[in-house]
Amino acid sequence: MTNRIQQLLGVDIPIVQAPMGFVARAQLASAVSNAGAMGIIETSSGRLDEVRLEITKMADLTDKPFGVNVAQMFVRNPDIVEFVADQGVRFVTTSAGNPEQYTTALHEAGITVFHVVGNLRGAIKAAAAGVDGLIVEGVEGGGFKGVTNASTMVLLPLIASKLDLPLIAAGGISDAPTLAAAFVLGAEGGQMGTAMLASVESPVHQNWKDAVLAASETETLLVRRGPAPAMRVLRTAASTAMSELESPEDATEALKRLHELYFGGDMEASLANTGQVAGRIDAIRPVADILREAWDGCRAALDAAAARLG
Ligand SMILES: Cc1cc2nc3c(=O)[nH]c(=O)nc-3n(C[C@H](O)[C@H](O)[C@H](O)COP(=O)(O)O)c2cc1C
Repeated sequence: MTNRIQQLLGVDIPIVQAPMGFVARAQLASAVSNAGAMGIIETSSGRLDEVRLEITKMADLTDKPFGVNVAQMFVRNPDIVEFVADQGVRFVTTSAGNPEQYTTALHEAGITVFHVVGNLRGAIKAAAAGVDGLIVEGVEGGGFKGVTNASTMVLLPLIASKLDLPLIAAGGISDAPTLAAAFVLGAEGGQMGTAMLASVESPVHQNWKDAVLAASETETLLVRRGPAPAMRVLRTAASTAMSELESPEDATEALKRLHELYFGGDMEASLANTGQVAGRIDAIRPVADILREAWDGCRAALDAAAARLG
C-alpha cells in the first residue's frame, strides 16, 4: 500500500529533503533519491548556471526521481519552467512567492507541483491556484520564516481540517516519532531541512555540522530583515548582534559572506540557517540511515503512542 505522497512523487519513502540554498545540490540530493526518498535541488542561490550543472550531474548519480525547488523570490527568470522541464524534472516545489505564478505552466509541462505555505491564508490561495499538494512549514524550521507564523503542531491540523490536499510537514521533522506525529496531525509525508544539513552527505563545513550537534533546542533565533522574510538561524555572537540591532541591512550584508560560513567554517562570518530541531540531533549520520529509520520506525512510533493510551 502506498499513500498519495508516495504515489504522486514516485518514492518509497514519503520524505522530501528540504531545498537549502547552496546546500541542496547533487551530492546531497542524489544520496536522498538513491535512499528511496525525494532529493531536491535548490534555486534560492539564484545561481541558475550552477543549478543547471547540478541537475545534469543528477542524471549520472541516480536513476530515481528527484525534484527542484523554485524559490520565487530569488529566481526572477520566467524561463525557469522551461528550464526544469527541459531537464526532465517531474516534481517541483514552489516557495517564497505567488502560487499562481508558475503552477499552470508547470502542469502543462507535465510536472507535479507542491507549494510551500506558512499559514492558512497561503494554503487556501495555493489550493485555489490548483497545486497538487502543500509543504506545510512551521516556524520552528530553519531558513526563511514569517515572524508571526505558527508552529507545525498548530498549522498542520489547521490546514488538514480545511483542505483535502496531500500534505508534507516541514519544521522539526528529524526521525520516526516526529514523522509519526506529522501523520497524526494530517500529513502523508515529511520534509527534513536541518536533519539533512547535519548529515554525512551534506556539503557544508564540519564546523557547522558540529555546531548543530552542540546546539540545544533554545539555540536558534529569528533574525528579522525588515520587509524581507526573517531567517531562523543558529545563535552565534554575530546573529545575536544582528537580531538585537534589528538592522535588516546588516543581515542582508551578512548574506554576502555566506560561503565563508557554509564552506569555510567561519561560524561568525554570516548566518547559519538552522531549525530548533538541532537540539535533537546528536550524531552526523548517512542520509540513507536517517531516512530509512524514520520511515521504518514511523509505524512502530504510532503503535507505541496507541499503547500509551492505556
Ligand atoms: C540551511 C537552510 C536553507 C534553507 N533554504 C531554503 C530555500 O532555499 N527554500 C525554501 O523553500 N526553504 C528553505 N529552507 C527551509 C527548509 O526548506 C525547510 O522547510 C525547513 O528546514 C524545515 O525545518 P527543519 O529545519 O526543522 O527541518 C532552508 C532551511 C535551511 C536549514
